[in-house]
Formats: sequence, structure tokens, C-alpha cells
Amino acid sequence: MRITPSILNTDFTRLGEAIASIESADAVHIDVMDNHFVPNLTIGLPVVSSIRAATTHMLDIHLMIEDPDQWAPGYAEAGAESVTFHVEAAKAPVRLARELRRLGARVGIGLNPATPVEAVAQILPEVDSVLVMSVEPGFGGQGFLDLVLPKVTQLRRLISQSGLSIWLQMDGGVSMETIERCVQAGADTFVAGSAVFRSDDPDRMVQSLRRAAESTAASRDQVFATTDSNGDGGDPPR
Ligand code: DX5
Ligand code: ZN
Repeated sequence: MRITPSILNTDFTRLGEAIASIESADAVHIDVMDNHFVPNLTIGLPVVSSIRAATTHMLDIHLMIEDPDQWAPGYAEAGAESVTFHVEAAKAPVRLARELRRLGARVGIGLNPATPVEAVAQILPEVDSVLVMSVEPGFGGQGFLDLVLPKVTQLRRLISQSGLSIWLQMDGGVSMETIERCVQAGADTFVAGSAVFRSDDPDRMVQSLRRAAESTAASRDQVFATTDSNGDGGDPPR
């Protein structure tokens, strides 16, 4: 279970302090928005390069931009360990995924809430993570959309069947109230923005979220172990 806090809703004049306050995080999730793919404009490559120089944390770049085919490789070249682009935006996702891997980055593919699993099913071997949006992309602090949970379970099944080691990440509205539902559905990696940075102690919240995810996963896996007839570890419940 991985917790990757989003810095979207932090004070951008004090980014270094925000990043330093989440020591236990598995990665820093950085939301890049271009005011075209989403109706918001955030930060881009120069700021990501500054962040790269300021932290040894894994950088998890989430590109909510048009034409990632052109822009995504620059983030891998800047030293980001993971670069996620949206399937709705990429013109040639396989070519882009291969280019990112060639540059040494993990490749993530993102899906908006209304985008079906079929949009990424064929290209799973080309990616290292799948990011399911549980809000419409563009802003932090929105309410969690339960309607994406069946898609997460479908993806978990596909990933298990494929034998690939792919992280299944959820992004949007993840909090102590919603993370258990995400784990039950099959997710293993969690972006949390406002839940972490609006708490009094961001690092403690990261640890609490991870503990909640791990204990839910432990009971989920126990149920699968007792009901699993074919010995493959079972699937999450429908
Ligand atoms: C939304 C971003 C998310 C967002 C998460 O478009 O991709 O990463 O910052 O923030 P919360 O956890 O507040 O929904
Ligand atoms: Zn994000």
C-alpha cells in the first residue's frame, strides 16, 4: 500500500516545506495542468526541476495536459521517477510509454471517471501504473465519486490475470473516510491531497492512511484466501 500525497492544495510559495513535511510518503504527487485538458493551470517543468533538486523523494508526475506526446518526456529527462499521462489526451500512447521507459521512468496511464477500462486494457503491458480519477480532474478538495469503484475492480482483475506488476492508483477525494472502499475495490496506491495537507500533522496522516489501507487489505486478502478455489489469490469482491 502506497501513499502519494498531492501538493496541489499547498501554499506554492512554500513548496519545499510542504514536501519536507511528508517524510513517510512513498512519493510526491505533482499535478501538472495546462488549462486545456482541464480548466486549471498549475505548475510545469521549471518548478518540477526545482523540486527534483530539493528532495530525494520519488516524484510522481500527473500530467493533466493536452499533447503529452510532446511534453511528457521532458519530465522523465528532468529526473521524475514516474510520469503519468492521460489516455484521453495521448495521440500515440504506446509510443509515448516506450519513450518514457527508455528514459528510465515508470509509466502511468490515467483515466477520467467516465473513461472505460477498455481504453487501456490492450496497453497494460506498456505501463507500470494505472491511475483512476475518482473526481473530475482539475481541482483538489472535491467529493469522492463512488461510481468509479467497479472500474477499479475490473482493472484489478485484468492486472491479476495478466500477471503484470502494475500499481493501481486512485486519485481524488481519498481520505480516511474513503480509502477503505478503494482498497476493497482493489487499489493499492493512493493520492491524497486535502486529506494530508489540511490535517494538523501531514506526516501522521500519511501513516494513518497507510495503516488503514493495510489493515483493510489484510482482511480483504483473508477473505479471498478462504474463498479462492483456483489458488490465484482471488479477486476483489464485485
Ligand atoms: C485533481 C488532482 C488530484 C488532487 C487530489 O485533478 O489530480 O491529484 O490534487 O486532491 P484531493 O485529495 O484533495 O482530491
Ligand atoms: Zn493528481
